[in-house]
Amino acid sequence: MSQLATARPTRHRTKSSAPDWLQVDGPGFVDLLDARIARLYGEIQQTPMWGLLHDPDTDIELLKLVMREVYLEISTYQPHVIEAAITAISHMPRSLEERTVKAMLRHQAEEFTHGEMALRDYAALGGDVEWARRQKMTPASYAVASVWMFIAHERDPFAYLGALYPFEGLTPQVSGSTKDVLIARGFPEGALEFVTFHAEEDPRHTALVRALIEKVAVGFPESRASMMRGIENFLAIYPIPVWQTAYERALGYYESGQFAAA
Ligand SMILES: [Fe+2]
Ligand SMILES: [Fe+2]
Repeated sequence: MSQLATARPTRHRTKSSAPDWLQVDGPGFVDLLDARIARLYGEIQQTPMWGLLHDPDTDIELLKLVMREVYLEISTYQPHVIEAAITAISHMPRSLEERTVKAMLRHQAEEFTHGEMALRDYAALGGDVEWARRQKMTPASYAVASVWMFIAHERDPFAYLGALYPFEGLTPQVSGSTKDVLIARGFPEGALEFVTFHAEEDPRHTALVRALIEKVAVGFPESRASMMRGIENFLAIYPIPVWQTAYERALGYYESGQFAAA
């Protein structure tokens, strides 16, 4: 055995100064992730885009443009996220139960076409889908794809679950609030598939991912550090920069008189 392996680990922390996420049970660990997402939701509510979406005086034409451009951003990074997610699942420890692996893969199968769902709403708002498919990602969406691809590249599969949680825990909250506002403003029903679906269906995904995280947090204690890294690395670049990019592009179209079609 090498010197390194036999050496006693240097204790930089006393037990009481260990991070909170090491000292809680499975549900307590997810509660910490929920608190992180709640903090992010508070930050989102301070953004200009959120203010514009929730201002009853905002011109409906501008609302349509903002949503159209958000859908476009989603459609560009989403296939890369799916690719990285399925790769990360393939790196999970072989000691995981078969039904847990199946649940993860089934979940990604359910997400598989959601980029296309976003593109349908994009088209319903006058977006040119063929043009959209030829576009390169914006820097903000490129960063989303990059973080996910690097999770796969690093072969740190539990980081995947940490990064996944905001997708499944935040999206239903944001979609629910946005859906209510858009319906109240008379937004075209045919351009609400993505937000309606995620407001209604994603709470099931939130519960699934929550259960998966609780399970690995207990069964694989070392997964906690990976999950914390996963969520923080992802939230460093998502979602505010992506939505800000869409918002600024929409404002540009609006100010130059190019309105959405629907
Ligand atoms: Fe989805
Ligand atoms: Fe989902």
